[in-house]
Amino acid sequence: MRIDILTILPDLLHSPFSDSIMKRAQTKGHLELEIHNIRDYSTNKHSKVDDYQYGGGAGMVMNIEPIAAIIDKLQSERDYDEIIFMTPDGELLEQAICNDLSLKGNIMVLCGHYKGVDERIREYYITKEISIGSYVLSGGELGAAVLVDSVVRLIPGVLNDETSALTDSFQDGLLSPPVYTRPSEYNGMKVPEVLLSGDFGKIDKWREDKAIERTKARRPDLLD
Ligand code: ADE
Repeated sequence: MRIDILTILPDLLHSPFSDSIMKRAQTKGHLELEIHNIRDYSTNKHSKVDDYQYGGGAGMVMNIEPIAAIIDKLQSERDYDEIIFMTPDGELLEQAICNDLSLKGNIMVLCGHYKGVDERIREYYITKEISIGSYVLSGGELGAAVLVDSVVRLIPGVLNDETSALTDSFQDGLLSPPVYTRPSEYNGMKVPEVLLSGDFGKIDKWREDKAIERTKARRPDLLD
């Protein structure tokens, strides 16, 4: 999969993809990630990429020209399955969206800033608008990092043990059950007996019961 991220703050986006699973996804060839600085496409002598909004009002708006220039250039090089805009008024990110995006070939992700981007970008270029939660961030970069991480880990072969993505919380509509590792007892706190029993039928049943119990308690909406 190829992902191109369009941002005015490229430095914010290097670190989340330079370690661990995201780094390995790139070195193993599952992910080709390009981070583009929108300012490089500004024709303004001060590399300005925003301006006052028509009609007045507080907050600057990102100009159409540099963003359109970079999208046009990338689209002339390859087809994109989705051009995503990170915005608090977008569709709320859910596991089902991550699953769907993980099957795509090429994706572009535009990070917004200031008061937003010129609406014409959204109308003419953007195919999907995503919010990572009902709160406002300073910009779309952290949202883009969340989105890309949650999608890339689902690409087959990225995780060492593929089944571990399938047993993630949300994949079967349930939260994950509790997990334990050694020691089996710490300061009197014991690991549930059943997990030490070696009876895998019983262990599966216990995990399913706990997943349902936890989902009922914490996210009853998932069971509706
Ligand atoms: N940009 C600002 N807030 C955001 C949010 N909640 N999700 C995605 N992008 C954003």
